[in-house]
Amino acid sequence: MPDRTPIVGGNWKMNTTSETAASLAAGLAADLAGISGCDVVVYPPFPYLAAVSGPLREVGIAIGVQDFYPATSGAFTGEIGMEMLTDLGVRTVLVGHSERRHVIREPEDLIAEKTRTGLEAGLDVTLCVGETLEEREAGQTDAVNLRQLRSGLADVPATVLDRLVVAYEPVWAIGTGRTATPEDAESAHLAIRKGLEDLYDEMSAKSVRIQYGGSVKANNATALFEQPNIDGGLIGGASLKTDEFLAIVQAAAGPAS
Ligand code: PGA
Repeated sequence: MPDRTPIVGGNWKMNTTSETAASLAAGLAADLAGISGCDVVVYPPFPYLAAVSGPLREVGIAIGVQDFYPATSGAFTGEIGMEMLTDLGVRTVLVGHSERRHVIREPEDLIAEKTRTGLEAGLDVTLCVGETLEEREAGQTDAVNLRQLRSGLADVPATVLDRLVVAYEPVWAIGTGRTATPEDAESAHLAIRKGLEDLYDEMSAKSVRIQYGGSVKANNATALFEQPNIDGGLIGGASLKTDEFLAIVQAAAGPAS
């Protein structure tokens, strides 16, 4: 089986100010220096990206963006294009986060375009999928995840999958303090991995990392990350506290870190 290095993302969402972003970045850089056995990506808000990149990159933390527009540059008022990402040295993008799907009402075809264009341009793309509470209660969890996976990966060739991460984030678990049980999360991850195998092949499916997201905290991270198909986490609220985030990264990295 391919070795999958766990990956932990810290999604700051629309939080922090220039001052708190700088002190959070300085704290993370100090705490996470020397961590091994886990890839770490931080997604700051755009206005603070340039300011916080330096200290984070110095200790090997990758900088990602929470969203982007799938064009190089041009007449797209209010958007951030791929030339700007390259200019800022950003190599990682989040696509299809639940808040963009459900709050900002981003449609599935735009999510698919962002995934394909980002991967084609050489970016690392984390494609987020996940069911609402209503869908879970109707027994639709796997069907929804597989639909979002298929649609998000439309026209994405197997040759770029080494730069794809899938994040399973049940909508009802995000920011609610309600986490999926490790067993429920593992079952959804396994279904997603089988979905990747159906879309591509067994080797590709086994190589793609699948993160869990939704109220991951220091006290529940280990039980989630111990599951065989959970390859780290995408962290919202707890990524704004250095000690919590460090403990989550350590849980993913394992005892050797
Ligand atoms: P949360 O957010 O950890 O605050 O639940 C997770 C996410 O939205 O990625």
